[in-house]
Amino acid sequence: MPPPPLLLLLAALVLAAARPGCEPAWDPAGGCPRLAAVDSATCVDLQLRTCSDAAYNQTAFPTLLEHRSREVVESSSEYVLLSVLHHLLEGQCNPDLRLLGCAVLAPRCQGGQVRRPCRHVCEGLREACQPAFDAIDMAWPYFLDCGRYFASQQEGCYDPLEKLRGGLDEEEALPSGHPATFIHFTHHSYAQMVRVLKRTAARCAHIAKTYSIGRSFDGRELLVLELSSRPGQHELMEPEVKLIGNIHGNEVAGREILIYLAQYLCSEYLLGNDRIQRLLNTTRIHLLPSMNPDGYEVAAAEGAGYNGWTSGRQNAQNLDLNRNFPDLTSEYYRTASARGARSDHIAIPQHYWWGKVAPETKAIMKWMRAVPFVLSASLHGGDLVVSYPFDFSKHPQEEKMFSPTPDEKAGPSAWTLVPLPPELQMFKLLARAYADVHPMMMDRSENRCGGNFLKRGSIINGADWYSFTGGMSDFNYLHSNCFEITVELGCVKFPPEEALYTLWQHNKEPLLNFVEMVHRGIKGVVMDKFGKPVKNARISVKGIRHDITTAPDGDYWRLLPPGSHIVIAQAPGYSKVIKKVTIPARMKRAGRVDFILQPLGTGPKNFLLGPRRNGPGGAGPHGEPEEPGQEPLGARRLPEASGSKPWWWSYFRSLGQHQPRWLLKY
Ligand SMILES: *[C@@H]1O[C@H](CO)[C@@H](O)[C@H](O)[C@H]1NC(C)=O
Ligand SMILES: *[C@@H]1O[C@H](CO)[C@@H](O)[C@H](O)[C@H]1NC(C)=O
Ligand SMILES: [Zn+2]
Repeated sequence: MPPPPLLLLLAALVLAAARPGCEPAWDPAGGCPRLAAVDSATCVDLQLRTCSDAAYNQTAFPTLLEHRSREVVESSSEYVLLSVLHHLLEGQCNPDLRLLGCAVLAPRCQGGQVRRPCRHVCEGLREACQPAFDAIDMAWPYFLDCGRYFASQQEGCYDPLEKLRGGLDEEEALPSGHPATFIHFTHHSYAQMVRVLKRTAARCAHIAKTYSIGRSFDGRELLVLELSSRPGQHELMEPEVKLIGNIHGNEVAGREILIYLAQYLCSEYLLGNDRIQRLLNTTRIHLLPSMNPDGYEVAAAEGAGYNGWTSGRQNAQNLDLNRNFPDLTSEYYRTASARGARSDHIAIPQHYWWGKVAPETKAIMKWMRAVPFVLSASLHGGDLVVSYPFDFSKHPQEEKMFSPTPDEKAGPSAWTLVPLPPELQMFKLLARAYADVHPMMMDRSENRCGGNFLKRGSIINGADWYSFTGGMSDFNYLHSNCFEITVELGCVKFPPEEALYTLWQHNKEPLLNFVEMVHRGIKGVVMDKFGKPVKNARISVKGIRHDITTAPDGDYWRLLPPGSHIVIAQAPGYSKVIKKVTIPARMKRAGRVDFILQPLGTGPKNFLLGPRRNGPGGAGPHGEPEEPGQEPLGARRLPEASGSKPWWWSYFRSLGQHQPRWLLKY
């Protein structure tokens, strides 16, 4: 069989590129005229569908890959790859990668000159996206070779992703150091939101930082603003909180409130507000104003007030993100009656990865694995109430049934079998920390939506309200150390702009009060007799079938209501340590309780096995086997029998002899 033409072409390119300073594609005559050849380009309209959102609209032929016409480009394997890349990588790295490819496949032409994309942009993407290719066993496409087809800034390159960045760089260059922040109580488009968060991080550079936890299906960055005394790192025993808005794209109040909160915390810290300084000096707070930026766009297109109940609720794949998490609640109910059954660190079942998992959901799961969160709130709209787990009813046929977590059923005196007053149950305390200081939630005179929750103090167990599976809060509780509540901020999902200031006023104190709750209970470090931290040690509280595990530095946080508790620390290879602690009713800072574990006498045979987990293998609670970036692929894309092609090869079969063999690793 003759080698496919592409390989020949590739070989030609390699040869040509070996000549210094020579650009094969621009040099049909064989010399190296560089700019002369560039000048002679004829710009024509860019008419490739896959590249229609590029930052430019004129291209030239032949392209950098020697394609001589639009038709040739369209039938090339490189173009087919760009067209399906989004799907192959499940939304990861796109649209960036596609636009980068377009910059090579359909180079920018401007004023009779072909311009080349910037090498540093290519290199940045290569670093970020190589893992996505590795995960599907695909080689990095040869035409995204940063050294060959890209140019340096000295050579006058342009940024093909400029449009995605929304002109941020200019904003960032604005002078900072302005003490007062004028919060604009308006709706924020995606670009505006990103700008405000980045500007806030710049203004408060010593206590704030933005970072991305991944991308939405349509490629929007899921941007987080982090506030803490040392942004960018976990500090020993400093608890971490996350606040998430806009998981339902059409429920936008939470998104706006978190944007305002970011600015408020920054400027109050700078102004010397004692409470805010203390909070940020002792807590690491992560704000994700929009978990569903794609859905938001759909809702925003309809506009405030007009928006109905459902437009934009889902992500761009039409998935409801608050139904898309692994249903561990069923797993828990299935095993709850068994001896030693746990309600913590339950493994994600294999079959979950066979279904559709949104990139937004994956991003959150990955985030939860990377940061030892203690407390969380997810902000919704459409009603006025705070709900707490479980959201899924313990009786599948019962749509409304009180279904509490073990942290609710038990409490400070459970081990002495004295019934616990409801006001001392942890999730109720958390929900009340929000509702009790919210003027509307507490207002008895107002005729409001959610009025039916008034007599319960505007808090409710999720399943007692209405039952659903795959929610984020249940997942937080059953898979990680994090306790999450759900806040319904008001009846209107997409409030008019005039209502936003009042919404902020009503929710500012509840949010602060709630975040401060992360300092309830106990915290400390588990170490061995040499002072070496023990990670993944289990902290159990007698009477509560829900363990917390230590973070990599050996530190832990256990939210607990006031009262007396028996606390046990244990880890494989060590004997357990038991302590009795009493948390006074008015205590506002977590009491420090450290544990020093003694190794069990001899070798590994004497391991004290922790309670068994449901999942196979019983891996560490930070769940290596559940790594969403790997397991879905492992599960769905079974290893190929030797000699056969990877699953994605079917996309290219129709290309016949033009099949992109350069994507195959072996
Ligand atoms: C191409 O872009 C230029 C400026 O970027 C704009 O003025 C022009 O109208 C565009 N042409 C088409 C056909 O979209
Ligand atoms: C917070 O930390 C900063 C920097 O260490 C310090 O100047 C400030 O006094 C602290 N404020 C409070 C209330 O702890
Ligand atoms: Zn919602």
